Amino acid sequence: MSEFRSASTPGVLLEIAVGLARDAAATARRLRAEAIFDVETKSTATDVVTAADKAVERQVIEALRELRPGDGVLGEEYGDAAGEGSVRWILDPIDGTVNYLYGLPQYAVSLAAEAGGEIVAGIVINAATGDEWTATRGGGAYRGDRRLKVTGPAELSQALVGTGFGYDARRRAHQGRVLAGLITRVRDIRRFGAAALDLCAVAEGTLDAYYEKGLNPWDHAAGGLIAREAGAVVAGLQGARPGLDMVVAAPPAIFNDLHDLLVGLDAAGGA
Ligand code: IPD
Repeated sequence: MSEFRSASTPGVLLEIAVGLARDAAATARRLRAEAIFDVETKSTATDVVTAADKAVERQVIEALRELRPGDGVLGEEYGDAAGEGSVRWILDPIDGTVNYLYGLPQYAVSLAAEAGGEIVAGIVINAATGDEWTATRGGGAYRGDRRLKVTGPAELSQALVGTGFGYDARRRAHQGRVLAGLITRVRDIRRFGAAALDLCAVAEGTLDAYYEKGLNPWDHAAGGLIAREAGAVVAGLQGARPGLDMVVAAPPAIFNDLHDLLVGLDAAGGA
């Protein structure tokens, strides 16, 4: 236990993250079963936050304060609390809140540890099914005990590509235009509704690639590490780091073609 307080190796940080995320997923599941999900809206009328999002985030923050009082925490609902040291936790208490609201079994707890500005450990748990994906920087990505390695198709035209849409109507209009330009160039498109799980799907090969504009750090911190450690390229456009403008995740064989298509469609532009 004292190791949990003092050591900040990727392995120790992952072990902490796994324990906290499992408890958080159990809380999210229980609150849904008890139908405790008063709903408020955030940036737009369709951007919802449930009482469960807040309760799960509070639970993780309180546990981290106990275990790792010097660390910072960035959470989707309560924002950024700076720490004294170089470790910051990045949390999405329920990624896929709209799925959660509707009872679609595609919502997740996503928890990553950043050290010295790099994501070094992360876990994504589908709270509805209990499926878990983990990774440490340089240590590989796993689905449970199975190590993941992306393969994917040799050509973009054969790729099943996931994406998502923001909550703002003007952003969605632009994203719709980009999608219209892309859908004729790939095998097909999927929109599952939880970015962290989409990135794990790329790691696992249930999606060949994924892109989205407008993701926040809590949406892609853990899933991005998992996809990268499975061998995918995870980046923004034109040399940028993955971020608010764009996150693209794809196996090396198709990354450049997808990247160039997205640049041509001005996918990082618009609102
Ligand atoms: C959303 C989901 C969705 C993505 C949105 C995100 P939230 O996160 O990940 O798939 O398309 O951009 O905001 O609001 O459910 O935590």
